[in-house]
Amino acid sequence: MIVQVLERELGSDAIVGPGHEKLDDYGRDESPLPELYPPECAVLCSSTEEVAAVLRICAERKVFVTPRGAGSGMVGGALPVQGGIVLSTERMQKIKEIDADDLICVVEPGVVTGRLQEAVEEQDLFYPPDPASLEFCSIGGNASTNAGGPRAFKYGVTREYVLGLEVGLMGGEVLRCGRRTSKGVTGYDLVAGFVGTEGTFGVITELTLKLLPRPPAAATVLGVFKDVPAAGAAISSLLRGGLRPRVLELADRASVDHVRKKARYRFPENAGAIVLIEVDGQAEEMPAMMEKIGLACDDLGALDVLGATEPAERRAVWEARRLISPALKEAYKIKVNEDVCVPRGRIVEMLARIERVSQETGIATAVFGHAGDGNLHVNLLSNEDPQDPAVRTKMWSAAEQVFAHTIELGGTLSGEHGIGMTKRDYVHMEQSEQLLQWQRKWKAMWDPTGLLNPGKVIPNRKTVCTE
Ligand code: MLT
Ligand code: ZN
Repeated sequence: MIVQVLERELGSDAIVGPGHEKLDDYGRDESPLPELYPPECAVLCSSTEEVAAVLRICAERKVFVTPRGAGSGMVGGALPVQGGIVLSTERMQKIKEIDADDLICVVEPGVVTGRLQEAVEEQDLFYPPDPASLEFCSIGGNASTNAGGPRAFKYGVTREYVLGLEVGLMGGEVLRCGRRTSKGVTGYDLVAGFVGTEGTFGVITELTLKLLPRPPAAATVLGVFKDVPAAGAAISSLLRGGLRPRVLELADRASVDHVRKKARYRFPENAGAIVLIEVDGQAEEMPAMMEKIGLACDDLGALDVLGATEPAERRAVWEARRLISPALKEAYKIKVNEDVCVPRGRIVEMLARIERVSQETGIATAVFGHAGDGNLHVNLLSNEDPQDPAVRTKMWSAAEQVFAHTIELGGTLSGEHGIGMTKRDYVHMEQSEQLLQWQRKWKAMWDPTGLLNPGKVIPNRKTVCTE
């Protein structure tokens, strides 16, 4: 029924309906969930007007709407878990404006992040946020999840670059908020309020993003360490030593071993763990910076220190780094990949606790990620049957142990992937019922009937048993 109504409004070309070979694609994403959640249909909107029309029609008919960018999310945020339709912004790919004087760009949400970076770099500008999926994720999804990436260490996460938004609200209203100036404090900051809400408040239809001048040069240094504790200690020392690279990443042996067969760049065979450091600035500053980092790594017990300055060589290193997650996914039937974040002073302790969870549960792990930010991708891996309830319980109770250690050390469940549905049942571990209640009220203000992206982010109220 809703399929026919939407087809009449937008034309059949915009609808992926029942029986279409691609419909199932809209029922999965990059999360570890083995289930398929096919929607009644997916609507591929091409304009703000079409997004508004879909949100109006679905509100009138009380149909659930799940917004979707490129489907690269890792927590099930774009899955229509309660049925209804998927509203995809994948066709909204216009870069409307790049303004080198104002240092901003205006884009539609479906623009692939890597393509936006290339477009601004052609004009000697720079859009720093660099999620590992930048070759296929989209900027609307990045804003919806407040995505991070390696360069967040120096440049911050997506929220810091979103100056203005146009958002379609449930019911069909279109709201513009924010600004195109670098500063601005008029009224409440609704832009910050929409970023990171995983499509539960509204559907982003346009973004005004802050740009920076492109750093003239960058260089990458790879410190090879004997094991994770040595690499973790090196990261802590580098942080205390006042170095300000743009990237400070860690990958353990399991992570680099899995990527070796797939990547052009070969991580050294003797690496028990690697620390990936990148600096940027003026070209003439690079050699001194690299030397300083190299010496620091030597002092901290590095087995080897390798440098990459040529763009092609650096690209190959980063391609290898970005392949870690897909390589692990290919190698294991189950990959519960978490993105916990601990205060920087607790990184070494957290790495030790992850190792303990692995030993105590017997579950293989691979740990990598944005260690300089305390943001660790803890991957719990298994080749057992993903549909077996006992296996799932085992894997998720190990994840729960990782979450418990994170919270104990003053950290947070998610540093960059978001909560979606996979972590929703664990939010109580971090946030009080009072805080959750205020968030439910906030959600109800934008979506009083709860039709937009249901079942995500904020857990339902806990029933308290008084017997
Ligand atoms: C990464 O840093 O590679 C991504 O966040 C992907 C992942 O965590 O698996
Ligand atoms: Zn990451």
